[in-house]
Amino acid sequence: MNDIEERIDHLLGQMTLEEKIGQLNQPMIHGLPGLDLLRQGKAGSIINAFGALSGQGFDHLSSAEACNTLQKAALESRLGIPLLFGRDIIHGQRTVFPIPLAQAASFNPTLVEQINRVAAREASAVGIRWTFAPMLDIARDARWGRIAEGYGEDPYLTARMAEAAARGFQGDDVSQPDRLVACAKHYVGYGAAEGGRDYEQAEISEPTLRDVYLPPFRAAVAAGVGTVMSAFLDLNGVPATANRRLLTDILRGEWGFDGFVVSDWESIGELAQHGVAEDRAQAAALALHAGVDMDMVSGAYQETLAENLRCGRISDAELDTAVRRVLRIKHRAGIFERPFTDPERASRDILTAEARDLARQAARETMVLLKNDRNLLPLRDMRRILVAGPFVHATAELFGTWTMDGRAEDVVPLDQAFRQIAPTGVELWFAATPDLALSRAHYADAVILLMGEHPARSGENANVSDLNLPPGQLEWITAVAGIGKPTVLVVFAGRPLAITRAIAQVQAAIYAWHPGLEGAAALAEILFGLAAPSGRLPVSMPRATGQAPIYYARKPSGRPLREDGPFRTRYVDLPTVPLYPFGYGLTYTRFSYSDLRISSQRMRDTLTVSALITNVGERAGTEVVQLYIRDLVGSLTRPIRELKGFQRMTLQPGESRRVQFTLREEDLAFTRADGSWGAEPGRFKVWIAPHCEAGLEGEFML
Ligand code: GLC
Repeated sequence: MNDIEERIDHLLGQMTLEEKIGQLNQPMIHGLPGLDLLRQGKAGSIINAFGALSGQGFDHLSSAEACNTLQKAALESRLGIPLLFGRDIIHGQRTVFPIPLAQAASFNPTLVEQINRVAAREASAVGIRWTFAPMLDIARDARWGRIAEGYGEDPYLTARMAEAAARGFQGDDVSQPDRLVACAKHYVGYGAAEGGRDYEQAEISEPTLRDVYLPPFRAAVAAGVGTVMSAFLDLNGVPATANRRLLTDILRGEWGFDGFVVSDWESIGELAQHGVAEDRAQAAALALHAGVDMDMVSGAYQETLAENLRCGRISDAELDTAVRRVLRIKHRAGIFERPFTDPERASRDILTAEARDLARQAARETMVLLKNDRNLLPLRDMRRILVAGPFVHATAELFGTWTMDGRAEDVVPLDQAFRQIAPTGVELWFAATPDLALSRAHYADAVILLMGEHPARSGENANVSDLNLPPGQLEWITAVAGIGKPTVLVVFAGRPLAITRAIAQVQAAIYAWHPGLEGAAALAEILFGLAAPSGRLPVSMPRATGQAPIYYARKPSGRPLREDGPFRTRYVDLPTVPLYPFGYGLTYTRFSYSDLRISSQRMRDTLTVSALITNVGERAGTEVVQLYIRDLVGSLTRPIRELKGFQRMTLQPGESRRVQFTLREEDLAFTRADGSWGAEPGRFKVWIAPHCEAGLEGEFML
């Protein structure tokens, strides 16, 4: 028994029932019923948030001083158990990085680790030691506002980002004062909410749950995340917050998770609204029994667990188990030894030049070049360039959702950033209205249109029924592009939008997501060729709203989509494939793939697949080489492609490099018809590819 467990046993043995229940209670920092609640040991954690929709606004309430004041009160309690301060540090704290969906477009786990390392350093400087991130919900319906917060549609990519985020937040020793306890959320299946409508129910089959939605969480647990958050949603009739099979049998029984589970905001109390509990007391008993250890804000644990214990609806053992888990993570976080935050750190550790540089690099790597006819980009030999659209003066609009600590004054407004970056001799005009844009376009050598959605249309409870650009923007694009000058479209968004008609009218297009506080400068660098785009799509780009949900790893169907024959489409009014597919992205050069080699036609325990990648253009460029497989015959139907590896590589013009992947039998495993997990013998296809609809194809047998 290591000393943490002994210390927990010792502490637990001294705790009263009230003190045990107190550790499972997480009230808001705001409206706190005075410091007495803390002095009585009736809170185990404080959430630094001002309300249920904190992600949609700003509050700069976190400070070392504020947390230290609360902590002092908690340490005055009988047993002096320190508070763990939690906050949504989703993509940076004061240094706002690109949204997680954009980070996924980098296909660069090292970058994601670096981002979250900085986020941990900044957030811990203002007293936070626990973040409610990474968000790992697989999202295949762009109508859902929270697609912005995760890493897209693919389980393999999301799992790699989960590991990177956990490493970034927690490091090798999460007890260090500049680290954060991570939280894998929202466990599980929240992204499958019906109709893309937040909080709605989801029906997910067991094989799909196991092979699509759970793998990122399993990766996060294997990477050592200290906490998991139970989701709001009703999954197959059982709300995730009352789902013992998920929270105990799988999470702990199968995966060995030994941290603690926090409910999502008031989701314990909301079990009564779901209609699986008569009242808050029954809701609390259900949640504790399912395996939810800490109650975020609902107060149901604080109010009813003592009574629940007295009338036998919960047991002493269940209560002690929950308290033990919370105390374990508090010990691992080192807050018994170091409960306070050094107030001096904030002036040193926050918004440093290095952090800004990383934010700029992240924005460069996350933007996706979708179209570049006749190599219009990077812009050159242009004297007068018109920049038009609702984002021309953007500052905080670049942040994206969940940026409570972001500050508009930290951002160089987009037009200024463009002026700073544009080559000398280039005259930039800015037009924030269509009429001004039209009057200027005639005299410009090229036009850059900055369109897309405000962060308010993104994030929690910000779902859209229509994936087209916001009202008026398509008309604006049509009018200005109609002038006939070379036109570049840039889209800022928290989701893939249906930009089919817009993109048809322009010669080049960049998807910039919500790129964070350095996004404007990074965009200008890419437009003027000081940096090259290297992002690839982590989500399929729909042609129209009606295609949602749309994703590449779909099942073949008995009437597969084929160019020939009658079954080439599923809609009479639209091609069925996305506008741009998962993994797609252009660069300022071109790459050729050749010489696919497979180490043997029959896989024993591993098999290597390699190909030669050549930069056949005139500029250096970064390619994201992707590995896909297809299991041609299974006891259940199998996806037409599944991502099983990727490698970023930068090649100079003319340079070739052989890229190699190793496939193991477990990479071919899935949840089989009998419910077991494993690979099945048979034929497999394999691709080394630039995206999910292309590549060099080979075959092997297992
Ligand atoms: C919100 C979100 C969750 C967040 C929590 C605290 O409702 O669902 O992602 O961490 O409440 O803000």
